[in-house]
Amino acid sequence: VDMEAFFQLLLFFAVASVISQHVILQYHFVELEKTWGEAQNYCRAHYQDLISIHSAQQMETIRSISGVSNEEAVWIGLRRNAGVRQWLWSNGDPVNTSMSDINQINHESKNKKNCVVIKTKNKWQGEDCSKVNCFICMKENKTSGQREYHISSEERSWFEALEICRRDYTDLTSIHSPEQLQEIQSKIGNNDVWIGLYRDEWLWSNGKPALFQDWGQGEPNNGGNNENCAGLWFDNNRDGKWINFPCSCSFPFLCYQDQSKYILVKENKTWIEALNYCRTNHTDLASIPNATAQTEIAELAKTSSGGGGVWIGLRRDRLLGFWFWMDDDESEFSNWGDGSKGDLFSDHCGMIDKEENFTWRFECCSTKLNFICY
Ligand SMILES: *[C@@H]1O[C@H](CO)[C@@H](O)[C@H](O)[C@H]1NC(C)=O
Ligand SMILES: *[C@@H]1O[C@H](CO)[C@@H](O)[C@H](O)[C@H]1NC(C)=O
Ligand SMILES: *[C@@H]1O[C@H](CO)[C@@H](O)[C@H](O)[C@H]1NC(C)=O
Ligand SMILES: *[C@@H]1O[C@H](CO)[C@@H](O)[C@H](O)[C@H]1NC(C)=O
Ligand SMILES: *[C@@H]1O[C@H](CO)[C@@H](O)[C@H](O)[C@H]1NC(C)=O
Ligand SMILES: *[C@@H]1O[C@H](CO)[C@@H](O)[C@H](O)[C@H]1NC(C)=O
Repeated sequence: VDMEAFFQLLLFFAVASVISQHVILQYHFVELEKTWGEAQNYCRAHYQDLISIHSAQQMETIRSISGVSNEEAVWIGLRRNAGVRQWLWSNGDPVNTSMSDINQINHESKNKKNCVVIKTKNKWQGEDCSKVNCFICMKENKTSGQREYHISSEERSWFEALEICRRDYTDLTSIHSPEQLQEIQSKIGNNDVWIGLYRDEWLWSNGKPALFQDWGQGEPNNGGNNENCAGLWFDNNRDGKWINFPCSCSFPFLCYQDQSKYILVKENKTWIEALNYCRTNHTDLASIPNATAQTEIAELAKTSSGGGGVWIGLRRDRLLGFWFWMDDDESEFSNWGDGSKGDLFSDHCGMIDKEENFTWRFECCSTKLNFICY
């Protein structure tokens, strides 16, 4: 029998600058002892997947799920990412492999040293990500290309540093040219600083990169050389910090299900094509009846491809000129931007405008955009 802890919350998290998502998650604690692989199959069959964890706040919520902390250990969806060993920038920028510093690190770094510091005398070096160092954040304006750097006064693990940089600036610093490196070197002086270069040795079952990690001391140690799966560890008053185990151990586990009713379709279609797509494959193009729905849809729209906007289910009546929702929603909520309703009597459809704080705006219906169904 499954004992299910039922949890619902609104959760905001940024996984990488390219993937940020707003979802309503339901967590399910399954008190059946299974190997990691069996647990993954079970979650995929009954819910969505094994749980993935992306912030300290989410860790708190998970620790407080009834029954979880009474276990010795509980599987989460984290597993060693076999094979892939290339260096990546935390903000998703491409790595400039012509830079000698990056080439050098490729040759030198051994296993387990998956995060990069710039050491005194300018040497780049791979280090254990759980070590503490000062770090250099950047604030970046992608439009103007302007960057400012901020060096921390405190020492933190690479993962904590990433969280702080993303909260207070844009990201950990990424470096693309010798000129930029020189500018940074003049600022860091004699400090050892974390930069945003890392290798994702661990990967979530749902394919998301593991840019938040919360290991117990000395973990992941890969003690038996086959400890490729991760769990929360509560034995001997451990407080749920992460530990690596052989995947063949049997523990209870945590699954999740995404309860969001909206779906972003990352294909470019005219408004009519989008409407057909939603009505065939889902229910309809999304209507936005209240501020909660507006926020949820705006967060989804952030992850769309392309700059301008995303279709929603707004259409203008060509004869009478009024706007209406395709699903006949008649709520009063409105979020039109300034001058956004267009000329009367033209063929206009409604989108949310990524460049105007996700307000609603008219667009020619034959424009091809991503769209949101429910
Ligand atoms: C990549 O590095 C090379 C040499 O190290 C430099 O000449 C080039 O401008 C860099 N590319 C970018 C996009 O910054
Ligand atoms: C980014 O740069 C552009 C172009 O220089 C400027 O118009 C815009 O205000 C800047 N954005 C921020 C948030 O500073
Ligand atoms: C429904 O979705 C499938 C694939 O996701 C797509 O190929 C198909 O065109 C969609 N249907 C319509 C009517 O757009
Ligand atoms: C907002 O609209 C959504 C979508 O129709 C609905 O599920 C939700 O209950 C509404 N929330 C409030 C606070 O009215
Ligand atoms: C949709 O179009 C935008 C530009 O208008 C483009 O950047 C994006 O890659 C396109 N997305 C897809 C999935 O084709
Ligand atoms: C953007 O929209 C949200 C809600 O839709 C609002 O709370 C916020 O103040 C707006 N921000 C700006 C800069 O207008």
